[in-house]
Amino acid sequence: MHFTYDLHCTWEENCECGPTFADESTAVPETPMKTFLGLPVRSRIGIAAGLLPNSRWVLPYAHRGFDILTYKTVRSVARSCYPLPNWVFVEDTEPPDGPVFVVETARDDPAAVSSAVCFGMPSAAPEVWREDVRKTRAGLGYGQLLIVSVVATPSQSSSLSEIAADFAQCAAWAVEAGAHAVEANLSCPNVCSAEGTLYQDIAASRAVVRQMREAVGSTPLLLKVGIFSNDIRMRQFLNAMHGLANGVTLVNCISRPVLHRDGRPAFGPEFVQAGVLGRAIHEPSVAVVHAVKQCIVADGLKLEVVAVGGASIVRDMADFFDAGADAVLCGSSPMYVPNLAIDCKRMHPEW
Ligand SMILES: Cc1cc2nc3c(=O)[nH]c(=O)nc-3n(C[C@H](O)[C@H](O)[C@H](O)COP(=O)(O)O)c2cc1C
Repeated sequence: MHFTYDLHCTWEENCECGPTFADESTAVPETPMKTFLGLPVRSRIGIAAGLLPNSRWVLPYAHRGFDILTYKTVRSVARSCYPLPNWVFVEDTEPPDGPVFVVETARDDPAAVSSAVCFGMPSAAPEVWREDVRKTRAGLGYGQLLIVSVVATPSQSSSLSEIAADFAQCAAWAVEAGAHAVEANLSCPNVCSAEGTLYQDIAASRAVVRQMREAVGSTPLLLKVGIFSNDIRMRQFLNAMHGLANGVTLVNCISRPVLHRDGRPAFGPEFVQAGVLGRAIHEPSVAVVHAVKQCIVADGLKLEVVAVGGASIVRDMADFFDAGADAVLCGSSPMYVPNLAIDCKRMHPEW
């Protein structure tokens, strides 16, 4: 398998170089228009916040038929990436929540690949990403949609209102730069500060989202969340966001110990637990999407469901659409299956 992101290079080097593809992109099949978040789209297939840190990455993937493109999470201040390694392939021999173990390289079968990441949500400075979001938006075709993912950068002493104001500032800048939609990243397993698990505090999430709504006006607002501790929390969260947000994107990575076979933590002692992605999280992700959709229907909530988690073959995308997803995004798989949107469109123009 060929990888478009070089795991041995820093995040900054990858940002600079852009993706390397093994082949010229094949023609993208024409598909009928649909709507997502009330906007026209060529398909409801895309890429989640992560693999696309700038226009160098977003635009080549847009040309390969991914129509919902999420600009990797940005901040109101520049933030460097954690040291290497940031991304490792793993094998999942102790599901569902035991450790995963680092392997030298991925198996030569996209349906079998799991990995783990620990980047720390690096960000370019706002003046850099705001200009680049403008450029990205200008490069997209009709029926393609740009979501900009944002997060606050609190200090130990930041108050909730400061965190909310920071989220809102980033959201306002994203809209001003041309984002069709904004995603608030309320979940990141790889940061220790308050922004990493905000979705687990429903009152705090509501305060943040209310302020973001004021900042973005009628621009669609998505909330990126992780696994809920139980169905009651899930229901409370969704009901609390109804009327403020337009949808939820789930799931972010699932946090598990990421180890070498000799027991050493892959990302260093500070991050024994890190975000696991790919095949290892597909089944639980489908289950959460299904439960969330059922709750939305049962409670009559106006929220769209954006599914993420281990989709690397057409069948995985179908799992999510069957579970009631309004759109399906891939996180890690476009790194090793960059033509997945083309395959999906060939077989399922209705997606
Ligand atoms: C390289 C990489 C970086 C990521 N960075 C972010 C991020 O900045 N913000 C975010 O919300 N999710 C981030 N994610 C998580 C993805 O959006 C997605 O939730 C996760 O990869 C699970 O999907 P997958 O199993 O299809 O990979 C990242 C994922 C990858 C692969």
